[in-house]
Amino acid sequence: MKIKNICCIGAGYVGGPTMAVIAQKCPEINVTVVDINEKRIAAWNDNDVDNIPIYEPGLSKIVAEARGRNLFFSTDVDAAIDKADMIFISVNTPTKTYGIGKGMAADLKFIELCARQIARVSTSDKIVIEKSTLPVRTAETLKNILDNTGNGVNYQILSNPEFLAEGTAVDDLMNPDRVLIGGDIETEKGKEAVQALVDVYAHWVPNERILTTNVWSSELSKLTANAFLAQRVSSINAMSELCEKTGADVNEVAKAVGMDSRIGSKFLKSSVGFGGSCFQKDILNLVYIAKSFGLHEVADYWEQVILMNDHQKRRFAANIVKTLFNTVSGKKIAILGWAFKKDTNDTRESAAIYVADYLLNEQAEIVVYDPKVKSEQIYTDLDYLNSRAEKENRTHVTIVGNPYEAAKDSHAIALLTEWDEFNELDWKKIYDDMLKPAFLFDGRRLLERKTKEKIGFEFYAIGN
Ligand code: UDX
Ligand code: ADP
Repeated sequence: MKIKNICCIGAGYVGGPTMAVIAQKCPEINVTVVDINEKRIAAWNDNDVDNIPIYEPGLSKIVAEARGRNLFFSTDVDAAIDKADMIFISVNTPTKTYGIGKGMAADLKFIELCARQIARVSTSDKIVIEKSTLPVRTAETLKNILDNTGNGVNYQILSNPEFLAEGTAVDDLMNPDRVLIGGDIETEKGKEAVQALVDVYAHWVPNERILTTNVWSSELSKLTANAFLAQRVSSINAMSELCEKTGADVNEVAKAVGMDSRIGSKFLKSSVGFGGSCFQKDILNLVYIAKSFGLHEVADYWEQVILMNDHQKRRFAANIVKTLFNTVSGKKIAILGWAFKKDTNDTRESAAIYVADYLLNEQAEIVVYDPKVKSEQIYTDLDYLNSRAEKENRTHVTIVGNPYEAAKDSHAIALLTEWDEFNELDWKKIYDDMLKPAFLFDGRRLLERKTKEKIGFEFYAIGN
């Protein structure tokens, strides 16, 4: 089976970059990315490729090459579904904010809407691929809807979880550690569908890196990979607090531990807490699934990873208040970095949101600088927490276009995203413009202590 037309529903952080790379690597396949968000699609189609809605190093170049050739962005979801042999679903699956499973289960309403739309529109056989991070057994739900509401069309459901990390999405897509494809490998039709997707990736991914499994293994592997990664960050963050009490340095500990080849060096960088759209959500999914099977010990085990992460964010903020003589009321505090990590404009679950919220509750005046995040996003993030009136957020949070302005006349700086440019700043100038004592809190272990103390800063760094 040769794929000629691919449709991807959802032009976000997953759908956009993934489809751009597929289109670039498979020039004979037409790839159409659709979204109900008109503004987002217009931005993807902007004449100036630097205005595409997602910031990822290297992405605009690929879009420039493939867009209009075999990569298209559109709001006409029905037309793209109808034409496609293969449909990727990469819509968002946020944690539920209401009803059963509130605060824990994934909200699948967008997935269900897509399934119903596919069922309504399709007039030919389709391979439907779940690309979003989903709880185990979502494929079954998809199949149920498609088979029961469709027009007698044949659907094959595959799970093809995305392992790209934001900030390195292009490289992760070009050189993946593995591509995972789950399908109904017991049946001929299922095998054919799996092979069709294998053939797409085989354009650039070596065969030994393309793994095929049953659907449930594929779905669970994604949750497991993210849970393991997040657990490493929480583990090293737990050690950071102990380091601060004992005089050990968490970076030295991480290095020593990471050189054990059985453990390895990655994901041992202590921080103010992990963020992003996946880690927390996927672990909560895992916890919810475990609980629903009555596996309470399993649920508690994984939940602790989240509790540790919440603690890390809270203790960082609490330490700022304590260090500033137990009050930040009316004090200007500069936050450098709002994204959940460097090289992305994504802010979902970013530690900065929670640190800012904590400080606002203590009546601080917050000034934020981030090189890629837009002001409206910062306000939306704070409003979403519902901790105070939206007007209050606008009164007490100011967003500025450069770090010097943020730091001017402030009592303290909190560095919360590890943007490279923060290492290149004129820290002497920043110090001179601050109130004294000038406090600098490094939540990312980005800055060198010695040089900052020499300038005169009161310097605090996680795990040191
Ligand atoms: C993650 C997974 O890595 C990816 O495979 C999956 O597809 C989606 O979820 P992402 O959320 O984009 O990707 O970022 P990641 O690089 O994993 O970082 C997650 C968070 O952990 C960030 O806030 C990061 O700053 C933090 N982190 C990561 C640390 O604090 N220390 C580390 O050592 C590594
Ligand atoms: P992710 O990080 O998973 O890619 P995003 O929120 O960045 O998540 O992207 C998901 C996209 O899916 C959003 O742009 C949203 O508008 C889109 N979307 C959600 N539901 C639908 C739907 N039923 N049809 C088309 N697009 C949808």
